[in-house]
Amino acid sequence: IGRAIHYEEEVDSTQKIAHRLATEGAVEGTVIVAEEQLSGRGRLDRKWHSPKYSGIWMSIILRPNLPMQKAPQLTLVTAVAVVQAIEEVTGLLPQIKWPNDILISGKKVTGILTEMQADADRINAIIVGIGINVNQKQDDFPEEIQQIATSLAAESGQNMSRARLMQAVFARLERLYQTYLKEGFFPIKLLWESYALSIGKEIIARTVTGDIYGKALGITEDGVLNIQQANGEIVQVYSADIFINE
Ligand code: BTN
Repeated sequence: IGRAIHYEEEVDSTQKIAHRLATEGAVEGTVIVAEEQLSGRGRLDRKWHSPKYSGIWMSIILRPNLPMQKAPQLTLVTAVAVVQAIEEVTGLLPQIKWPNDILISGKKVTGILTEMQADADRINAIIVGIGINVNQKQDDFPEEIQQIATSLAAESGQNMSRARLMQAVFARLERLYQTYLKEGFFPIKLLWESYALSIGKEIIARTVTGDIYGKALGITEDGVLNIQQANGEIVQVYSADIFINE
């Protein structure tokens, strides 16, 4: 990962470039990284604020030879890799909020957006988009996310090298991705759950069809979240925003 790097000063979204390069046959491990994104995208069509020189805005092309149902697992592989890289470089202890947010002291420091190109039901390419807030000051964040977003610098009190952190992400992701391909999802699931914020806690899962209250039990092989409701019934949640129910 990171042997072929496309570096750009300014793009609309590294995801968009990665999709194009993947269609054109870019090799596995190709990375597109930009200093600034004018229309960075998040999950659920949200905007991802990506100001110049402040963070790591990148997309990585993976080509696992797997059926497309396995794609969500790659998001979880990536989340573990990013947590470990942040830990290694900063000493901070991030946590994962299902499915793909990385938080420090309860505020979001990283988002992951995994998109797929598939051929019949096989994965042709996975585009893993990673946005890490690195050197923003707390008041650099737009008003509407001031309370919920943070950066590594804001949490640690010092600026840090984005290049060094990016290298650490590549190294960790490379290792975990190889483990995943050889040994399957189980070792990743254990790591993921060890970093997860909500497992064992009472949560609210806000889904498009309404709120689900219950205790987060863990994730399944597919990366689906199991929630046990008060009546004992276990529901599987595929897509939601999670809130800890305090
Ligand atoms: C989320 O939390 O909703 C996911 C955010 C993903 C942001 C990254 S930044 C690099 C890549 N390019 C994009 O436009 N989005 C992802």
